[in-house]
Amino acid sequence: MNILILGSGGREHAFAWKIAPSPLCDNLFVAPGNAGTANIATNLSITYNDFEAIADAVLENNVELVIVGPEEPLVNGIVDYFASRPDLSRIKIIGPNKAGAQLEGSKDFSKQFMQKYGIPTASSRTFTAETLTDGLKYLESHPLPIVLKADGLAAGKGVIIAEKHAEAEQAFKEMLLDGKFGEAGNKVVIEQFLKGIELSVFVLTDGEHYKILPEAKDYKRIGERDTGLNTGGMGAVSPVPFADANFLKKVEEKVVKPTLNGLKSEGIKYVGFIFIGLMNTKGEPYVIEYNVRMGDPETEVVIPRIQSDFAMLMASTAKGTLNDFELQISPQTAVTTVVVSGGYPGEYEKGKVISGSEKVEDVFLYHAGTTFNGNTEIVTNGGRVMALTGLANSLENAVHKSQRAAQAVQFEGKYFRHDIGVDLIRYND
Ligand code: AMP
Ligand code: GLY
Repeated sequence: MNILILGSGGREHAFAWKIAPSPLCDNLFVAPGNAGTANIATNLSITYNDFEAIADAVLENNVELVIVGPEEPLVNGIVDYFASRPDLSRIKIIGPNKAGAQLEGSKDFSKQFMQKYGIPTASSRTFTAETLTDGLKYLESHPLPIVLKADGLAAGKGVIIAEKHAEAEQAFKEMLLDGKFGEAGNKVVIEQFLKGIELSVFVLTDGEHYKILPEAKDYKRIGERDTGLNTGGMGAVSPVPFADANFLKKVEEKVVKPTLNGLKSEGIKYVGFIFIGLMNTKGEPYVIEYNVRMGDPETEVVIPRIQSDFAMLMASTAKGTLNDFELQISPQTAVTTVVVSGGYPGEYEKGKVISGSEKVEDVFLYHAGTTFNGNTEIVTNGGRVMALTGLANSLENAVHKSQRAAQAVQFEGKYFRHDIGVDLIRYND
């Protein structure tokens, strides 16, 4: 079977790395991919939002299965586009249709969905420019801190946690009146602040059955000890030591099952990943957000723990036979550290020559923002450059392997966090 992966990050390199050796995979394509995927697959220089160009490539290369990495093409309706074209309707896609993708594409939709199906989440209300005065009144008496969320996709920047009422008011007005997040901020969700510790659970569903993949914790802030600006993710750990079997059972019963049943009740046939961002508040799970894809860099710790054939897992998801699939998960711990360009998540330069990556040992090296300069030299091409995953019998050793590799990779301006996973070691005592 020929397979196409859409995207160009560490997540997509990890998918490609796991799929390429499968006996089920004849030819593997990645669009647009990076310097890492170029080594194990054929990169196609197509952007993932160009559905016509993707369709042409699928037909030309006899692709039967498409795995969508990022959320944008899903929210924009790539699944619906393929279904609408008779020459493409037989192509299987891992990812939800536009209706299902609203779980991530609209915070207002996802909050209403959770309320309707009794899924534990922070209490909230949604406001628009028309209801601005009501919103301001609501803010006045809202306990601090206050969480404000732009309804639509805002490249991970649409959440504001205000410590003061004046700050919340200003952010609220900026979104609704000044178009701070463009259309994404035409509706604003005001939400109760949840105290606790965050983790993510990943579900794969074929529309009827599901498998729960290894859970993960990511590190969103740029600075050590979770300080500074938010990023796409500076590292991740799986399994999560504070998520014991009892907690994960609660997640399955109180969140996963009602979510999948809710989708069915809404008449949405959801095929693909559901990434559930959770707050563990005194041992109880609350949903912070849904994403309709895998996380990045969470995938870089989830994939190395999956021992089963991933191409077969994807094929059985597409066929609707997930219940027959035996998912094998390694009990080992995976830790990934992301090396980033100096200046990220703000402005940064690209085109810095990367060296030392050939020397890293005993680690999974996933490329993210990399490309070729001419034919051979690998250079930086994004904020997050590579994710280095250590897999070991203990969290300490996995941290050590990941850190050693992050030290070894070199490029001008390189930065990485030295504390990924370190805060979790105490849970294993
Ligand atoms: P999101 O874009 O929904 O992932 O939100 C970004 C981050 O904001 C989350 O990862 C949380 O750390 C934080 N956050 C979002 N909603 C809440 C909430 N209700 N209470 C506390 N923290 C939150
Ligand atoms: N690492 C967070 C995300 O992929 O959304």
